[in-house]
Amino acid sequence: MRAVDIIMAKREGRELSREELAFLINGFVAGTIPDYQVSAWAMAVFFRGMSPAETAILTEQMLNSGGRMDLSGIPGPLVDKHSTGGVGDKTSLILAPLAASLGLRDPMMSGRALGHTGGTLDKLESIPGYRTSLSPAEFREILARDGFAMTGQTKDTVPADRLLYALRDLSATVESIPLITASILSKKKAEGAEALVLDVKYGSGAFMRDPAEAERLARSLVDTGAALGLRIIALLTNMDQPLGRMVGNFLEVEECYACLDPALYDAVVPGKTPGPALAADLMELTLELGARMLMLGGKAESPEEGRRLCLGALAGGKPRELFLRNIESQGGDREQFLTMLGTYRSPHRAEILSKEDGYIARIDARKLGQAGIGLGVGRDRIEDPVSPRAGLQLHKKAGAPVQRGEPLMTAWGRNRESLDAAIPLLEGAAEYAAAPPPPEKLVMKEIRHG
Ligand code: URA
Repeated sequence: MRAVDIIMAKREGRELSREELAFLINGFVAGTIPDYQVSAWAMAVFFRGMSPAETAILTEQMLNSGGRMDLSGIPGPLVDKHSTGGVGDKTSLILAPLAASLGLRDPMMSGRALGHTGGTLDKLESIPGYRTSLSPAEFREILARDGFAMTGQTKDTVPADRLLYALRDLSATVESIPLITASILSKKKAEGAEALVLDVKYGSGAFMRDPAEAERLARSLVDTGAALGLRIIALLTNMDQPLGRMVGNFLEVEECYACLDPALYDAVVPGKTPGPALAADLMELTLELGARMLMLGGKAESPEEGRRLCLGALAGGKPRELFLRNIESQGGDREQFLTMLGTYRSPHRAEILSKEDGYIARIDARKLGQAGIGLGVGRDRIEDPVSPRAGLQLHKKAGAPVQRGEPLMTAWGRNRESLDAAIPLLEGAAEYAAAPPPPEKLVMKEIRHG
């Protein structure tokens, strides 16, 4: 078998066989098939696509390139959630303890911030002492004891994806539905999840801006996941403006903690309406995703019942306690964490004021995300450092009435220069209207297999 024939076959639009895909992926990981041939193949896939069966085989071959987390003996159901990424997208930090409090086990393997989107690992590492590189034994132990554990990928987690993603990034082949599907699902299978709720985002801050394209991705993920034996549901959700009020690393952890402990909300964000209403969209999406996790885990019959269970658990305080316990389990200090709430901010701070009277038509998530890279929330290259104390707090979201000179956001930068550079970008992210804009749906659609 020759790689050039496989590239040619895909270039002509032919469906590749299991043997051909195994040859390509194994050869790539072993270093016997060079990067330039794999890049050419990725470009052929980008233009020609893959059949559902072919996508499932590619996912399996990628999964087989590394080890799998051994979660045998841990009583399930092992249910995870994965988001395709956005700005202020922090539901994992609320969902993991919430799901655990209701009897699910969430083996969460997350990624880092890249480009305009944030990363769960960077957020968690803003908690002093918190360790996100758990050994497999630690991951198992914490998962079994606390009901969830949060770790990053190891060198052995789907090496084919690590290598292929780096090539795709440099060869303009990231935005290919079968390649994204195989990349996401191979990692989720490797972490040991039995069931998966996907949050597939569309809109300016999402990977796929176009809802129709995001829906195609959701369908591919759901069908391929089901072919690989996962119980799986996707929600198609809006990411036109940031989710919740905080964008940053510690800022987002803080917002999640506040959502788990509504009594604290006013202390965290002084002068604002107490309770989760301040993060209404964040809580709404969390409940919708949490309800599906419960359904897939056999704990709820319907989204309505799932939501009720989630609300009851939040009111009882157990998810909050599990969140704090996880901080301790992973190396942090809960008392220190609690003293940091509302104060752990960079000293380099600026207020962004409204330029007009009227209504906020839109706060462009991508523009905020891009400004966040400079502030220290995210990064352009995976090796760049992030700042735990940088970020943004939104005082207004789409639909809010506003007067000229009123604060729209507070920004904290890693240093003065980063803040000065971000201010015009942040000002440019707000769009105004004379009348309230029509409300946008947060969850557009649920997609199931079949
Ligand atoms: N996220 C992934 O993990 N892989 C992709 O290919 C795209 C987004």
